[in-house]
Amino acid sequence: MPDTLTDPRDRPATGDPGSWWRQAAVYQIYPRSFADANGDGIGDLAGITERIGYLRDLGIDAVWLSPFYPSALADGGYDVDDYRDVDPRLGTLADFDSMTSALHAANIKLIVDIVPNHTSDRHEWFREALASPRGSSARNRYIFRDGLGVDGSLPPADWVSAFGGPAWEPVGDGQWYLHYFATEQPDLNWKNPEVREDFLKTLRFWSDRGVDGFRVDVAHGCAKELPEVLPSQAELDALDATTGQHPLWDRDEVHEIYAEWRSVFNEYSPPRTAVAEAWVATPDRRHRYASIDGLGQAFNFDLLEADFDAASFRGIITSNLAQSARTGSSTTWVFSNHDVVRHATRYALPPRGSSTEKQGASWLLTGGTAPVLDIEGGLRRARAATLLMLGLPGSAYLYQGEELGLQEVADIPDAERQDPSFFRNPGVDVGRDGCRVPLPWKRSGPSFGFGATGAHLPQPGWFSDFSVEAEEDDTTSTLAFYRQALALRKDLQTVESLEWIDSDETVLHYVRPGGWSVVANFGTRDAPLPAGEVLIASSPVGEGRLPSETAVWLKTPSAQGSRLRSSGRCRRSTPGSRHRRPRRY
Ligand code: BGC
Repeated sequence: MPDTLTDPRDRPATGDPGSWWRQAAVYQIYPRSFADANGDGIGDLAGITERIGYLRDLGIDAVWLSPFYPSALADGGYDVDDYRDVDPRLGTLADFDSMTSALHAANIKLIVDIVPNHTSDRHEWFREALASPRGSSARNRYIFRDGLGVDGSLPPADWVSAFGGPAWEPVGDGQWYLHYFATEQPDLNWKNPEVREDFLKTLRFWSDRGVDGFRVDVAHGCAKELPEVLPSQAELDALDATTGQHPLWDRDEVHEIYAEWRSVFNEYSPPRTAVAEAWVATPDRRHRYASIDGLGQAFNFDLLEADFDAASFRGIITSNLAQSARTGSSTTWVFSNHDVVRHATRYALPPRGSSTEKQGASWLLTGGTAPVLDIEGGLRRARAATLLMLGLPGSAYLYQGEELGLQEVADIPDAERQDPSFFRNPGVDVGRDGCRVPLPWKRSGPSFGFGATGAHLPQPGWFSDFSVEAEEDDTTSTLAFYRQALALRKDLQTVESLEWIDSDETVLHYVRPGGWSVVANFGTRDAPLPAGEVLIASSPVGEGRLPSETAVWLKTPSAQGSRLRSSGRCRRSTPGSRHRRPRRY
């Protein structure tokens, strides 16, 4: 371990108001699918305000709110028309203020999504760019290039968008604009000082309204350096993405942008926080985004990409804790979000490398309903993995509905799908709508209590059994399990360190300071349960035995607890996983 590493236990205590985020449980709300107060089928801000009691009882520390800005919804709100307003279908700025005050009154912080890589094509800047000639300052806020061929009718390059299809779009006068995502999401030119200034204004706008932090969308994409002669897609793909010199991704100078943002965050007390969504080539590159001189924290998607496997989990945990010790940040953990198949369903698929794996993969991609899913096993594994994760130092990011044990909704009819990756990949990818179906609050009713009428994506009949109403008073429900785990976590989390206890290769066991430990059995057979009082279990445990695919938190006999308080840092082990992305942009 290099000398520059400092012990994560030396990080500021969570009691410091400026450090609230370091070990926070952050709950992601995808607002159009959370709760619909006005009965138009689309979730809204008033719907969130009405459910603050639910969020408080769940025991989260913060909400991360996905985009709520005016948008044509070409990409679920990540196509922003105006960064300093609220989509009228979701409410008004006054509704936003009421929601923020109500969250704060319940002791819940608010993180909003900010989308700097691209605007929507309805943003006033882009409309002005289209109405202005080539070479104009209006076009300079975006990335325009002349087309190839005598009349510019061929794209400047054969680049493929993240959602499939071409990444360059013609505007009718021989010029084309870059949109790495949907056609409706033109990429901004971050070399333009006006772009930089405007985002600082946006950060202050929301910070002044009481927002506590920002989730930064596609943080690795803002700085771009396009050569005069553009490389082909194949050439782009072949470039080394770890040098900081790739034309599109993770360029070193992107951090200059975030250093400027940091100085805005530090104008506030406590300083505003940020978490980067940065898909980069190595963990080392990711942690640059988490620097305390930059955004401060970055998503670590490693567990989300891993198989349910003890060695993979241990390697990932160890390396991420070591990396965050280097940056002075705390690490993040996440299993589900609005971009990936829900983890209860991922873990219900046939294991990788098995003879039925291909069948499972095609189920996901085509929206089929073939009976390849092990629903019960998927949820059992998801609960075990979640309990293991919630015991770790660092922030836990949870996605709405996972606390109900929701599965992916795979069989949405094509005519009702909304995700651009479905439309841009016909027959190949059903897209991300399956994890964005509006939440079931009641056992029955037009939209299972989501709103007074229907829901903007169809909800399946089985949602009834996974509704808040069905789970609320059931002590064995996934909702009760999350509530109990989050409450215990609040009491137990102290300083940011852990120590591994050697155990069977299919069992992970770590001890946290303060006399508690976490044990998870990833194997197919039960294992001995270490000594200690069981505080919580992901599945029922028997006397002295830890069933397969089950995790527990134990109150550790004092000898082990005090050994940890006076002993070393987290030991390193080699990441054993083959990192494959469930879905990557
Ligand atoms: C968001 C996606 C979005 C994409 C483009 C991602 O990071 O999480 O939902 O489609 O950025 O904004």
